[in-house]
Amino acid sequence: MKIAAWVILIALSAVSTVVRSTSPEDELVFGQTFMADSMNATDGSNGWALVSHGIAQNLFTVSQEGEIVPQVAEKVSRVSSNEFKIHIKPNIKFSDGTPVTAADVAKALQTANEQNPNAQSSLGSIEAEPLDDNTVHVVSEDPTHIPESVLAEWAWPIFKVNDEGGYVFTGPYQVDEFADGEHIKLSPNEYYPGHEKSLPAVSDADGIQGRSFPVGYTNMAVYNLCNASSPIQDIRVRQALDVAISREEMSESLAGGNPTRSFFPAETPFFYEPAEPAEPTEPAELLDAAGWTLDPETGKRTNSEGEDLELRVVAYPHRPGLPVLAGVIEETLRSLGIKVNVKVTGDDWDETQKIIDDGDFDILLWAQHSLPAGDPLWFLNAFFGSGNAKNMGCYNSVIYRGRDA
Ligand SMILES: *[C@@H]1O[C@H](CO)[C@@H](O)[C@H](O)[C@H]1NC(C)=O
Ligand SMILES: *[C@@H]1O[C@H](CO)[C@@H](O)[C@H](O)[C@H]1NC(C)=O
Repeated sequence: MKIAAWVILIALSAVSTVVRSTSPEDELVFGQTFMADSMNATDGSNGWALVSHGIAQNLFTVSQEGEIVPQVAEKVSRVSSNEFKIHIKPNIKFSDGTPVTAADVAKALQTANEQNPNAQSSLGSIEAEPLDDNTVHVVSEDPTHIPESVLAEWAWPIFKVNDEGGYVFTGPYQVDEFADGEHIKLSPNEYYPGHEKSLPAVSDADGIQGRSFPVGYTNMAVYNLCNASSPIQDIRVRQALDVAISREEMSESLAGGNPTRSFFPAETPFFYEPAEPAEPTEPAELLDAAGWTLDPETGKRTNSEGEDLELRVVAYPHRPGLPVLAGVIEETLRSLGIKVNVKVTGDDWDETQKIIDDGDFDILLWAQHSLPAGDPLWFLNAFFGSGNAKNMGCYNSVIYRGRDA
């Protein structure tokens, strides 16, 4: 496995992290498969990455027990379904020692909302204003039943841009050196409560002990319904793939995880496992019915115009399991006579983003923490809300819209 880049002195990470060495004495080197590509907290998924590196924090987060807990905020009071007040913790500071004020928080939220479509999925557009030193007043276009969870979404890190244009945050570590795509050097943020305990607790250990624990990531395949001429538009083709591609085989190929049809992990209240089709129609029959018949000579499926049934499968390398899953899918589809074109993108996320933006795929493999903020609304909205930031396959269902109504 190729590690994209190194992060130095990071104690906590949500992603699989590899400890490379423990020398020199007071330095830990961690490898990560995904890193912030700049300090710009509102650009793309940097908010997520900066929090996972231990640099940034949100107003709220989700605890190990799955509870939504305060971080930079103390609490939220709801005024109405579209209006709430955020009360900031007293004495909380940025890593440059300046206090976190309501004006800073309002600015961070407003900027994220204006610059990052991922910070619009749950609330639409917002107006955030400081009321006094410690209180921010927010009015949102869309209603929310649970602002704490929305503010725990990864697209809302709390930051301040200083007079030199540099970004400062409130997390346990501050950035000493940022080498884009290579490494980030961090040191403890002395204004973070309990900072004196953070690194020694890890580095005092004799050597380093690794521990693995289950995480709530879901690997998904997104079918591209945006392209009117893609063969995947035909529901019988999608049904054939649904029956043919074995979730068990995929899970075995990763030596981990559980085969599932649920968006949300089994240990959460939102777990829902629909039954497998009892007597599924054979994939070959479904493809025949869709007009893609097998040419016994070539072993390929073609339509009446003689065109090959061809599907493009795209996987990105930052979640190393995805290219493995692409291989399993490729083999399954080939055995059905489907021509498969697998593309594993490179380390530069722009390449993957361009493929998504251009709709240049039939099946996109995607790894997602579907409950990052403890409540399912963000995931459902962002991935299935018509026109929303992460609805990459143009999903547009009356069933989902019925939920909105
Ligand atoms: C940060 O990223 C956002 C979103 O891409 C962009 O609109 C903004 O101009 C960037 N800010 C800076 C200082 O580069
Ligand atoms: C749409 O699908 C057709 C048929 O598979 C393909 O030739 C075309 O390139 C696709 N368009 C895009 C934008 O990928």
